[in-house]
Amino acid sequence: MQRGVAVITREEGHMKEALLYFNETKDYFETRLAQYMACDEPLLTTLEESIKYSLYSGGKRIRPLFAFIVGDMFGVPRERLVSLACALEMIHTASLIMDDLPHMDNAKVRRGRPANHVVYGQDVAALASIGLLTRAYEIVLEDPDLPDHKKTLVVGKLANVVGINGLVGGQFVDLKFASETMQYPTLEYIHNHKTAALFVASGTAAAIIGDASGEQIKALEEYASNLGFAFQILDDLLDATGTVEEVGKSLQKDKGNFVLLYGLDKCRLLVEDYTNRAIDAIKIFQGRNDRLIILGQMLLKRKS
Ligand code: IPE
Ligand code: IPE
Ligand code: MG
Ligand code: MG
Ligand code: MG
Repeated sequence: MQRGVAVITREEGHMKEALLYFNETKDYFETRLAQYMACDEPLLTTLEESIKYSLYSGGKRIRPLFAFIVGDMFGVPRERLVSLACALEMIHTASLIMDDLPHMDNAKVRRGRPANHVVYGQDVAALASIGLLTRAYEIVLEDPDLPDHKKTLVVGKLANVVGINGLVGGQFVDLKFASETMQYPTLEYIHNHKTAALFVASGTAAAIIGDASGEQIKALEEYASNLGFAFQILDDLLDATGTVEEVGKSLQKDKGNFVLLYGLDKCRLLVEDYTNRAIDAIKIFQGRNDRLIILGQMLLKRKS
């Protein structure tokens, strides 16, 4: 080996490629997301402002990124994934606006700035959230690049993970059943439904667009549900250990929290364990699963 010449290992090469892809995909996504939500009605100016305030306020854009990675694994052109990716981010942003409301988590800071309801009031924030949710279904249904049978499957999946058996149900149990004496099965229900479900929909809807087989969809489901579960436990950890400046949101507002049940050390182990389970689940994609593995490892190290 020549001295002074940097040698890039195979892993480093994959990591470099993946990070480049993540950044480039995120830029593409931001540009396309900015093209939605136009509204010409002057009477709705404040509602539009409120929606855009939350939708275009940064955020890690993990769910759209995940959908793009999966679509790419099946050779789907980016253009055919855009409506799904934007819909996922709209649903997620709607859930954040709702989650921060005074009768929910009563949080004042989101994505490094005042929460939507702090700026626009609870009435407008609630409407912005519902408006975003509904727009998500609409943009998939309006997508000229998707055949009707795929639109039906994708919208069905999205509606399912948002509804009573998804995010809404998870948030309900979080609010109504949470306490310091909460048992594992209840917390598991909360984390699976309020968070992991949308991860699962992100991966499986992209896989459906890519004509994945049943076995492939199942593997992606397993990956996403474990990753989403780990993601929410780490969110609970950051809630306990981070600062508002670092994490960019109000802290110690939610009730159903893994740290209260297990403490910091056990939670750290759980995050690692579920991330490993996620990575194990996608072994069947050997040779084209690098980005999903790196996504899992990256989320494990996140600080916000
Ligand atoms: C926050 O999600 C809510 C949870 C499900 C934990 P993210 O951590 O993805 O939030 P943003 O989109 O980056 O702000
Ligand atoms: C809620 O969990 C997840 C959502 C579906 C919004 P949290 O209440 O822990 O989310 P953050 O910490 O406020 O983002
Ligand atoms: Mg919250
Ligand atoms: Mg939290
Ligand atoms: Mg909450």
